[in-house]
Amino acid sequence: MRKQFAVIGNPIEQSRSPELHHAFAEKTGIDLQYSKRLAPLDGFRDSVADFFNQGGVGMNVTVPFKEQAFAQCGVLTERAKIAKAVNTLWMQDGVLHGDNTDGQGLVDAIRALGWNLEHSDILIIGAGGATRGVIYPLVQAGAKKIVIANRTLARAEQLVADLQAAVPQAELQAMALTDLIGQFDLAINATSASLTGDALTLPECLQFNFAYEMAYGKPSSFLEQAKARGVPTSEGFGMLVGQAIESFYIWNGVKPELKDFL
Ligand code: ATR
Repeated sequence: MRKQFAVIGNPIEQSRSPELHHAFAEKTGIDLQYSKRLAPLDGFRDSVADFFNQGGVGMNVTVPFKEQAFAQCGVLTERAKIAKAVNTLWMQDGVLHGDNTDGQGLVDAIRALGWNLEHSDILIIGAGGATRGVIYPLVQAGAKKIVIANRTLARAEQLVADLQAAVPQAELQAMALTDLIGQFDLAINATSASLTGDALTLPECLQFNFAYEMAYGKPSSFLEQAKARGVPTSEGFGMLVGQAIESFYIWNGVKPELKDFL
């Protein structure tokens, strides 16, 4: 029988994971089927149990279940523990295992663009789950300072307090979005502003050399302002592909090349 995989979320129709994983499978010669599963908002645990009881090999988890998946796993990777969210599940010796590949997906996407992360100063705008998931992989990739700027300063401060001990080799700093100032190698928009269509206004004096928007396929006022500054930009499709490749690698032991799918 073909190996069975699925992405679980609510809603799920919009997910591009099946097409990505089928493209990886074709490229690497692995026989698999990857489907979408809509779980009821109060039925995540049962849906996961059903999938693995029926012989499923691996699951991706998307909104709004990543924190529930984290809570449900018996074994977690270090990066999933730090992210406090899980997007990749598999069963091993009867125990549910969880990882979070979002941050490595971002790192791989940035590297595929040829942007340097070694000794970098990074600005991340936003202090939600998306930011939490990428700090550790960015530091592992060489970031030496990360400023987290958020509309609600207290949330950025909380994130710094939570995560600084996990990344002792880097300096984390919280800032209010309204006080945002400085010079950075890379600016990342990790807010949900582009998803909701809200504008994000960057101060004139803010300087950065590259700009990465985590969202994709939406107008982004962050990217418009970056382009007006004349810096190279990217939206988040590469991150989506990157996290999918990392999940595929965990499950199948084979790593497709990111650049083949951009
Ligand atoms: P996610 O899990 O995707 O990170 P989240 O936890 O809801 O989602 O966090 C959304 C982030 O986007 C937060 O940092 C939020 O700022 P607040 O903490 O002040 O709410 C930020 N955000 C959303 N809309 C925004 C806007 N219009 N301007 C600035 N920041 C915004």
